[in-house]
Amino acid sequence: MMNFSGRSYCGELNPADVGREVHLFGWVDALRDHGDVLFIHLRDRTGIVQIVFGPEFASKEICGLASTLRNEFCVSVSGRVIDRAKGTENPSIDTGNIEVVATDLTILSRSRALPFNISEKAMVAGADTPAAEAVSEDLRLQYRYLDLRRPTMQDNLIKRHKMNQCVRKVLDKNGFIEVETPMLTKSTPEGARDYLVPSRHHPRHFYALPQSPQLFKQLLMISGFDRYYQITRCFRDEDLRPNRQPEFSQLDLEAAFIDESFIFELVEKLLVRMFDIGGIRLTAPFPRMTWQEAVETTGTDRPDLRFGLTFIEATDIFADTGYSIFKQVLHRGGHIKGFNVKGASGQLSKNVLQNEYAREIVPGFGAKGMTWMRVTDGKLDSNIVQFFSDAEKQSVMERFRVEDGDVILMIADPSRSLVNTVLGQLRLNVANRLGMIPMDTYRPVWITDFPLFEVTDEGITSSHHPFTAPDRTDFDPEKPEELLSLMSRAYDIVINGEELGGGSVRIHQKDLQQKIFRALGLSDQEVENKFGFFLNALEYGAPPHAGLAIGLDRAVAMVLKTTSIREVTAFPKNRSAFCPLTQAPAEVAYEQLAELGLLDIRGKEELPGTSLRKDRVDHLAWVSRLGILDAERTVIESAVAAAEQMAGRVQAQAGNTEPAFSVSDLKNRFRDGGSPVRCPHAQKGELFRNAPAVKGDYFKVATILE
Ligand code: AMO
Repeated sequence: MMNFSGRSYCGELNPADVGREVHLFGWVDALRDHGDVLFIHLRDRTGIVQIVFGPEFASKEICGLASTLRNEFCVSVSGRVIDRAKGTENPSIDTGNIEVVATDLTILSRSRALPFNISEKAMVAGADTPAAEAVSEDLRLQYRYLDLRRPTMQDNLIKRHKMNQCVRKVLDKNGFIEVETPMLTKSTPEGARDYLVPSRHHPRHFYALPQSPQLFKQLLMISGFDRYYQITRCFRDEDLRPNRQPEFSQLDLEAAFIDESFIFELVEKLLVRMFDIGGIRLTAPFPRMTWQEAVETTGTDRPDLRFGLTFIEATDIFADTGYSIFKQVLHRGGHIKGFNVKGASGQLSKNVLQNEYAREIVPGFGAKGMTWMRVTDGKLDSNIVQFFSDAEKQSVMERFRVEDGDVILMIADPSRSLVNTVLGQLRLNVANRLGMIPMDTYRPVWITDFPLFEVTDEGITSSHHPFTAPDRTDFDPEKPEELLSLMSRAYDIVINGEELGGGSVRIHQKDLQQKIFRALGLSDQEVENKFGFFLNALEYGAPPHAGLAIGLDRAVAMVLKTTSIREVTAFPKNRSAFCPLTQAPAEVAYEQLAELGLLDIRGKEELPGTSLRKDRVDHLAWVSRLGILDAERTVIESAVAAAEQMAGRVQAQAGNTEPAFSVSDLKNRFRDGGSPVRCPHAQKGELFRNAPAVKGDYFKVATILE
């Protein structure tokens, strides 16, 4: 029997343990064989310690066994902690000043040759750390259990755990109650498609996996929980993007009898603590910016405030311009805006500006072209300034506060939103190209005052979700232009250009909620089907409430500075929403679909067993789920024929009268024509010989016969 007691952890050993006998469990991270002495790096979740197998301390057998070790064998080692000889310390591991001389070794289980390298630590001081191999992400995900053995991945998940713990602690201290909400539920609209789960008990009916716990947390407010939170999984079938997963985690919270300021303060407190785990200092209170200001100055509602390049209005400067391109744009009610890239003329040559940006990059963002000007010797210099008047040039220089070496980029277009979005993409492109984004800086900002609705291909939709309170309630839901002028009481928390979370003050009045549904074009019937239960709940004393959800994967990835949220998720899907480990999603058995009522969803498909139904006996066997032996066929054929005859006779006697239910006492009744006889097969227990199962004196048969 293996002795698991008295275990020490590899990474926790330190010079104070020198002289101690220890008992370690772990995996062989790396090996170095010096002939008579073998060194291994033994790794567990706390770290690595070097083990020495040599004839001085271990028996011949143990040394022989040690020589069979290979990477990732799972072993148990006993030995004594000693100081390392001077000059052999290894600063690349935390226990690099000590080592364990082994006296005993048990191989608990062996490992096949690895699909990729797991070890991340060099065994010898000064040697290169094993290079992170260029392993495809799909291979890593296919062998995720091995990938997760890597210290980097263990550290990511352990830090994630610490962030979760920190969240729970802060929220608990602030009176929040953790409540779990259902996974099998009804559609919870957050603007994505639902993942549906068919119900076997209710054929052709489906649960939806929650896109968020939105409606349940609001119901909990109505229930009086007052302050709720949950770290929960959400499911969204949406277009694939780098920082999206089909299932992801939210820190979801909601509180009653509060307003925006409560949420801002609480979330700031939470984020400061969460970021602190990664050694990142955020300073509260965070700045706030209206949606309008964000879009007008950075071209996006997710502004990256780590660098400047904010937009400057130039439409008025060119009101009477002779430059034909601007003139045409302004004639169509258009706009001209731009930004100043300070001191960048060395990096942005005429060639780059004209041939790369104006011809290729900016058209790729959706604009027709880009105007550029470089500032040299106190003058604007470009291929088009010759068409500008002196006054226009002067105004541009003043408005954009130019100095020699600056580069001004401008976009002109009839659509103001196009000017803003293209400039927004250009801003990020230039900042990245010129290395203007300080990597270790974190700039949180609250974005507020979003439009309540937006226009999409499907018509008017909610910018956040339909439960968000509007800034006023006296609107006409039938008037689109009035709806589009409404602002919402929604807010997003954005850090370094990434939306980490969002929420809103909610509607808690039924009438207003109905009005919003009407504005979204939902018929009364649709509202009743989808949200009837929720509207009902709003009629029972719903308190004013507000909340927010933070994308936990995104927050952890940002704190840990990983390249994607997949690096902080134990078992993520790949970029195509596929799991290379389990091969999900996968096909399912035809019978499984039939059982769920999914084959014949439109009444056209042939159900399993249909072909068998063509023969009367086969049909009977199919519906009763009994296998029939060839030898039994004749008997069953004649029994079926007799039953048919009998049915015919009954029908003939009944004539046209409606079949009636029997109202006489329930008792065995035998037909005339002879003394009752029990079927010999039944007596011998052979009648259901082929039934799927027998239990005691009973045969278990399919439901249809029970
Ligand atoms: P929202 O839809 O803004 O709000 O979601 C909140 C946060 O969840 C994260 N997120 C995602 N993370 C990874 N993969 C995805 N596919 C994904 N989609 C969203 C984002 C986002 O900011 N019920 C509301 C919250 C509320 O109103 O209280 C909601 O879900 O970081």
